[in-house]
Amino acid sequence: VKMDSSATDCSASRFTGEGSHEPVIDFVKRLTKKPVVGVGRFTSPDAMVSQIRRGILDLIGGARPSIADPFLPRKIKEGRLDEIRECIGCNICISSWHDSVPVRCTQNPTAGEEWRSGWHPEHVDRVAQAERILVVGAGPAGLECALTLGRRGHQVTLVESERTVGGRLSFETRLPGLSAWGRVRDYRLGRLKLMTNVEMFLSSPVGVDEILELAPDRVVVATGARWTRMLYASMEIPVGQLDHPQVFTPDDIAAGRLPEGPTLLFDFDNYYMGGVLTEHLASQGISVTYATPAGHASAWTIMTNELPLVHRALAKRRIPVITLHLLSAFDGETATLKHLFTGEEVWLTCRSVVIVGLRTPRGELVAALEDRAADVAGAGVRSIERAGDALAPGAIVHAVHSGHRVAREIDLSEKPAPYRRDFPIVGTADVGDAGAAGGWASTRGK
Ligand SMILES: Cc1cc2nc3c(=O)[nH]c(=O)nc-3n(C[C@H](O)[C@H](O)[C@H](O)COP(=O)(O)O)c2cc1C
Ligand code: SF4
Repeated sequence: VKMDSSATDCSASRFTGEGSHEPVIDFVKRLTKKPVVGVGRFTSPDAMVSQIRRGILDLIGGARPSIADPFLPRKIKEGRLDEIRECIGCNICISSWHDSVPVRCTQNPTAGEEWRSGWHPEHVDRVAQAERILVVGAGPAGLECALTLGRRGHQVTLVESERTVGGRLSFETRLPGLSAWGRVRDYRLGRLKLMTNVEMFLSSPVGVDEILELAPDRVVVATGARWTRMLYASMEIPVGQLDHPQVFTPDDIAAGRLPEGPTLLFDFDNYYMGGVLTEHLASQGISVTYATPAGHASAWTIMTNELPLVHRALAKRRIPVITLHLLSAFDGETATLKHLFTGEEVWLTCRSVVIVGLRTPRGELVAALEDRAADVAGAGVRSIERAGDALAPGAIVHAVHSGHRVAREIDLSEKPAPYRRDFPIVGTADVGDAGAAGGWASTRGK
């Protein structure tokens, strides 16, 4: 038994807790003697046992929990609970389904890559010759990279300039509804702490001199990205920074710099950050208006089943939502918004603006290493790679995947082609195993 629509059946942790189907499906066992199986983002064995003991379900089903950790049942059976890679309820997986693209998972970078890249969720090939690898940055990409390098048997040093690990997660998991996302950090940290071949140093910013002194065989730069004050024109063409002392980015707010209200939050990132930050500012007592060129608040969250609940959350706090408008100017007292299609202007009285839009990689370390390429090569460093947002700013899922890929491929003499893919063969005579009447074959990187 499950719920009526994808949005309620497969709801995100931002708005819905574990076992949320219970009040809707608890009557079913009274109507049948047949075994009843249900779902509800079950990740904790206690929640599963509770529903069985209380006679709600006979069997526990898990769609997302098994995407995040296909070995979840075995780990429970063998009492390896600390090893479970718990689903965080971000719903990136269901967004792939809505998009008709291969599945992706924030917690499990091997999801969807089992066949096409040959990545096993639990096993990685160990290296014959361990190398000393420095990973700079302990955000989602750096943590995943260090963990996978460690599993492969490399000697890993993970350095983080902040006092805590997690990178962007350190701030984002404190935003309304996002605490479960901390599992991305906590799972990896828990595993890393058990590894004798991985050392971790916090509050340790490194530059070229420190790297030359350490003289690792390889360097992975996973230093993340920063939000900018850039504005876009209607065709998503950057039109320049909005420079004013009262213009903020999510990084300012993460650093504890709160804008003075009334505030306009202008969002053209369109995933969760604009909506959740608006809620956060309102919860701090700041009067805030949300504006976006998209048709809805946090428009891309339609893909993660969150959009209706984002609107509901903003409405609950009585936050005005302006859609289909671009921000064109701000003078410290008035923000000018232009209708996306008619160009008609509206003016909003506000003391500050928060822009949630473009991010750029923190590329200073890579640039500095490139500037001193001869010294770096002289120190014996064979390669410098970027991972995660430092390579291409994206969602957390992309950072984890990128960190994992770098760790799997860093020491290969030849980089593998991106992935194997299926292609249909229609009506050809010689199709080998696929059969004369057509069928499916596979190729890697063609
Ligand atoms: C990637 C993905 C694809 C899904 N595809 C289907 C589907 O094709 N048909 C369906 O009835 N439910 C589908 N579901 C919903 C699941 O079957 C399940 O009911 C839902 O995810 C709630 O279970 P969970 O909390 O264990 O994830 C899908 C869920 C995910 C995450
Ligand atoms: S993508 Fe997110 S919601 Fe889906 S299984 Fe992975 S962690 Fe869970």
